[in-house]
Parts: sequence; structure tokens; C-alpha cells
Amino acid sequence: MNRDTICVQGGYTPGNGEPRQIPIVQSTTFKYATSEDMGKLFDLEADGYFYSRLQNPTCDLVAKKICELEGGTAAMLTSSGQAANFFALFNLCEAGDHIVASSTIYGGTFNLISVTMKKMGIDATFVDPLCTEEELNAAFRPNTKVVFGETIANPALTVLDIEKFATAAHAHGVPLIVDNTFPTPVNCRPFEWGADIVTHSTTKYMDGHGAVLGGAIVDSGKFDWMAHAEKFPGLCTPDDSYHGITYAERFGKEGAFITKATAQLMRDFGSMQSPMNAYMLNLGLESLHVRMQRHCENGMAVAKFLEAHPKVAYVNYCGLENSPYHALAEKYLPNGSCGVVSFGLAGGREAASTFMKELKLAAIETHVADARTCCLNPASSTHRQMNDEQLKAAGVPAELVRMSCGLESSEDLIADIAQALDKI
Ligand SMILES: Cc1ncc(COP(=O)(O)O)c(C=O)c1O
Repeated sequence: MNRDTICVQGGYTPGNGEPRQIPIVQSTTFKYATSEDMGKLFDLEADGYFYSRLQNPTCDLVAKKICELEGGTAAMLTSSGQAANFFALFNLCEAGDHIVASSTIYGGTFNLISVTMKKMGIDATFVDPLCTEEELNAAFRPNTKVVFGETIANPALTVLDIEKFATAAHAHGVPLIVDNTFPTPVNCRPFEWGADIVTHSTTKYMDGHGAVLGGAIVDSGKFDWMAHAEKFPGLCTPDDSYHGITYAERFGKEGAFITKATAQLMRDFGSMQSPMNAYMLNLGLESLHVRMQRHCENGMAVAKFLEAHPKVAYVNYCGLENSPYHALAEKYLPNGSCGVVSFGLAGGREAASTFMKELKLAAIETHVADARTCCLNPASSTHRQMNDEQLKAAGVPAELVRMSCGLESSEDLIADIAQALDKI
């Protein structure tokens, strides 16, 4: 099916007399007639549900829709995008292992990898997404287990050369995980370019209304774990906590990764999405394809207006022809990227502050990617502990404003931006 149709009808086909909308199974637990029936579930010998900390039918229907949208073989929901990225990475790495990651990833993920996972004994090397193949290959070590990047990075808005990163990962016998939050599968399907696992903060465009936190992990089913069994003992040797099951043998390339993440990580860490949140996420997904088009149109219109304005020093938007990421965007994002634009004001930090104060439609928020336009000056909020030099080094100079263009009329958005720029 076309992605537009999957957005509306994917994941769930009701039978005769069943609800048209996905049912919210608001139950922590499930009833069985015999202990043997339940035992089969615990042994992963039968399909079914026993406790919503691990799996819930509503969540599974929504995960199935996201799986179909990405073109994967198995998927799961998580309580947040942070949980999705942690689970995806920790499903492959343990103490003593190493990650290669793009340096321009979301700050929360950067912290997760460089601080929290480091405390767990997992090391990382960060590479410039525009690095050469030689530089990328040089980042690998014998203990590297995974490569990680974002299709469009938040907030740097760099575009990942997915094929380059996938080729390097596969040459070293490891998978590529791509966080596809900003373009969504409507605008890019990383599996078509060689990525092996995709993650999402569904909190962003997928929900799209600033209503529910959530995350998702999707497996392409293409990575041959058994061919690299020595690197992935967690998938390729018996799991004592599951009666000696070897996930890659029992569930194959198509199912091993998500089964292990559900059976081990969800069991041990929780972080499940609530069925009510999954229901609301599905409402967002039903219009994702229509909304993404408008977000992209508004992003492009605002980026072009800003580019031509004398008080604006520079604009980052891969849809603009002079963007260093334009060629990559034409290859990976031919139908549009997203609605997030960042730009620097010629008047510096003070100008950014005045500009944002004067905006009437765009609210100041740490959030991005929902129906209402919002903006943020990282220097005075998320990165306020840094001085101007540190801000520059982190790629978020003091004058930078990140604007997430919503679904309003672009004429109104531009009129609002114009009057705020006039006040500087
Ligand atoms: C690209 C990206 N990945 C992951 C996350 C984390 O998602 P969440 O806030 O849902 O935990 C974010 C949050 O902004 C993000 O932008």
C-alpha cells in the first residue's frame, strides 16, 4: 500500500462487527485458563499478552502501523524517544563495547551515549556527518557494535548520508541505527538506503499535536546477526533469563531484535507506552501524510523569506539551494524534509531575544514538530550554561533561533516574523 493509505488504515483491519477505531485495551494484565497456557507465553512458545509492562494489544497495533510505514519486519513502542534510542543501542551493546555516532545528534541522545552509557562501560566515538569515508572507517574499533545517526539532526538540521554510514557499518560487520524522527517515513525510509534499525520520538510529528510522549523502534529484518555471532552474544547465544532461548535462531533476522528488546529490556526497565497514549498517537498518524506536506511547505516559505531579509545573517534549511546539505536532501528527501528551520540574527543574542519576545503566533517552547509554530533560542534556554565560545563549538551560536513551522497559514507566519524582525 501507498504510505498515505498506511497512515490512515495500516496496522489494524477490524473484523465483522469489531470497532472501526483501534480498541484501547486499558488493562495491566490478561486472564488465562491454565498455568500451562501462561507458561507457554513466558517461554515465548505462544503469541499473546500477559502483562502490559512488556506488551499491550493497543500498542502493538500502532507499532504495526509504524512498522508498515517504515517497511520493516517488526516494531515496538516505547514511552519516549529517549527510551527508544536507549533500548535500540543497549539491545546490542554491553560493558566493554563501543558505538560510532554522528556528532550532530539531538542533545538528549548525545548525553545518553556520551555520559550515561559511558557510565555503563560503553564507549563512543563521534564523527562529523560530512566526514570522508576514510575518516568514518577510522572511527571503528574491534569492539564497535553499532553506528548511530539522525536522518535530519535536531537542532543542527544536518542531513545524514545514510548510504555512506550504512556501507561503513556493514563493512565492519555492525548495523546502522537511524533516528528518523524529523522527516518521518512519509519523507524518508532509511531502510531503502541501507539502515538496519530505525527509531522515532513519536512525540514529534507522528503525534503532531504536542499531546503525548512516545517512541518507536523498527527492525528492517535485514541484518544477519548469526553471520556476526561473535559480536552479538546477546542475540546469538542462549539467554539464561529466557530458558536458554537464542533469539537469532528462534526468531530469525526478521524478529530477533524486537523480541529480545521486548523480552529483556521492557521486562527489566519498563518504559512501555500507555495504551491511551498509543491510541492518541494513532490519531496523529492518521493525518501524518497530510500534515507533513504542510509543515514542509511552511518550512520552505519561512526559510526563503528569512534568507532574503537583511536582519538575518544565515538560514539552515536543507531545502534551500545554497544549503551544504541540499544535494543530500535531494537524494534522501525528494518530497521535502520537515518544518524546522534555524537561523542566525545579524544583531546577535540580544536581537534573538527581542525577536522572540515580539512574535505573536510562534510560542517560545522547548518542543518542536507540532501543529502550532514554536521557537527556541538555545543560548538562553537549553544551552544557557555555556558561554558564547562554547555555544559556537556546540553548533548553537548565541544568535541562533530554531523555529518549528506548524500548520498555520504561511502568510500569517511570515507576517508575524516580519513584524517581529521590524522591532529589532
Ligand atoms: C531526533 C530526536 N530523537 C529523540 C528525541 C527524544 O525524544 P523524547 O523527547 O520523546 O524522549 C528527540 C527529542 O527532541 C529528538 O528530537
